[in-house]
Amino acid sequence: MRSSAILLASAMLSVTAAPALAQEGEVPHIETRQGRHALIVDGAPFLMLAGQVNNSSNYPKPLQTAWPVLDRIGANTVEVPVAWQQLEPREGQFDFSFVQALLDQARSHDKRVVLLWFGAWKNTGLAYTPDWVKVDNRRFPRMKKPDGSDHDVLTPHSAETLRADKRAFLALMTYVRDHDPQNTIVMVQPENEVGSYRNPRDYGAAAQKLFAGAVPQALTRRLGGRSGTWSQVFGNKADRAFNTWFTARYIEELAAAGKAIKPLPMYVNAALADPFKEPDPQSVASGGPQGDVLDIWKAAAPSLDFAAPDIYDRKSRNVLKHLDLYTRPDNALMVPEIGNAREYARYFWPALGRGAIGFSPFGMDGSDYFNFPLGAKSFDEATLDAYAAKYRVLSEAMRPWAKIAFEHPTWGAAKPDDGAAQEMTMGSWQITASFGQWQFGQREWFPDADLPAWASEPVGGIAVAQLSADTFLLTGDHARVSFAPAAGSPPNGMVLRIEEGHFAKDDWVTDRVWNGDQTDYGINLTARPVWLKVTMGRYR
Ligand code: DGJ
Repeated sequence: MRSSAILLASAMLSVTAAPALAQEGEVPHIETRQGRHALIVDGAPFLMLAGQVNNSSNYPKPLQTAWPVLDRIGANTVEVPVAWQQLEPREGQFDFSFVQALLDQARSHDKRVVLLWFGAWKNTGLAYTPDWVKVDNRRFPRMKKPDGSDHDVLTPHSAETLRADKRAFLALMTYVRDHDPQNTIVMVQPENEVGSYRNPRDYGAAAQKLFAGAVPQALTRRLGGRSGTWSQVFGNKADRAFNTWFTARYIEELAAAGKAIKPLPMYVNAALADPFKEPDPQSVASGGPQGDVLDIWKAAAPSLDFAAPDIYDRKSRNVLKHLDLYTRPDNALMVPEIGNAREYARYFWPALGRGAIGFSPFGMDGSDYFNFPLGAKSFDEATLDAYAAKYRVLSEAMRPWAKIAFEHPTWGAAKPDDGAAQEMTMGSWQITASFGQWQFGQREWFPDADLPAWASEPVGGIAVAQLSADTFLLTGDHARVSFAPAAGSPPNGMVLRIEEGHFAKDDWVTDRVWNGDQTDYGINLTARPVWLKVTMGRYR
């Protein structure tokens, strides 16, 4: 720890003072228009092709192992934790040496950064708080269980915990304001997977009093329902609703004060539950921003830009449902964590199709840690290629895609677990993505021919943007795409032209026109994604 990097408590008094924003460029922010969202970086829409490092890679040396992995997959952004534990090892004494190392390393590797604040909550627990917080249960109380014993999660009702956590978070934001005028850091996540497992809320005396009181009007107004106590308004969901509200209020305090220092986009990430079942308040991270309680978060924490799903569920139906739950006119979709096993990579396409502003497999460093069965067992070339191929094609058109996705309808699909073809109607055209076929001919014509090796593997997907009524921009891998007139649309529809090309700044440049074998059996996307512009037409 560099002593020069340690500020004394007295210097901290200036932390909350009105900031003099000395920014070089426009501060990154989220823009929303007609229900679509863009992350604006350096004045234009930006797509985060990200990777998150492992939890304990938040030190200068292990961080160095991340860059080769991130370069291998072609990431433009890294998500990295900064722990309260390392930032304020002694109360009031701050050590920014890792934050500076992160900025230096990220800049020299040409990466943007999402800063993850591991404070009072990390996967609900208090492990990332400094020792002086952990041991002082009087000052920083844990939640109480119904029987009066302690639960190993800090209560969101403690003004003292909030004060201390916020002071450290604001010290971090102040450092970012003063040392990152070039906006290497594009986004901040205050806390990590907040909530509480196996204890839906705090049952201590102060919490009990609040629980017997009225639900705040800001919440009842938002939900459009009746007023009353938590039990009256929420019935058997009251414990979780209560903890959600007060946890979100706590985060709101951090986010609002942090943004007053530097108004970077801020979001919360959710430990997810089965999206098709009513979450069990005992086993869900109660208080966290799961899809079914987003409206409580929206009412309680207006300073947050969005909530986001951490996806470690391999079932395709569940993944798509999670993506849907976080794609809302009032919530930009970003996937801040997804398992880094090969099969998760294909969900990049449906995320893009829902207008995602970022995507980030978890555990992308060379520290030799793998969180299987959530993610990969190890990195083999096929796994890294699965991410690299997608990030490469998007990197080639990162700015144009981000702008197009902000302004135009988009759709994306991934091969589902049952391998069934996926369809979508865009305007007067029906688009079908099917999986597991060679590039030539129809499968039934060659019953004796073998299938591609990947036909039985969980690979394949596409992303499409509708540029105008009859033109579509398209990419993807391991998929066959076909266009046809949608039911009820005018007759005589056909594919007029399929161009493969690239972007020069925002302008499309045609490299060749596909025809003959390349189009007679659909548009066949291989393991090497390319950009295609499809123009449909009708003859008279
Ligand atoms: C989700 C958390 O947000 C991550 O920090 C990490 O603990 C993963 N779970 C599991 O590896």
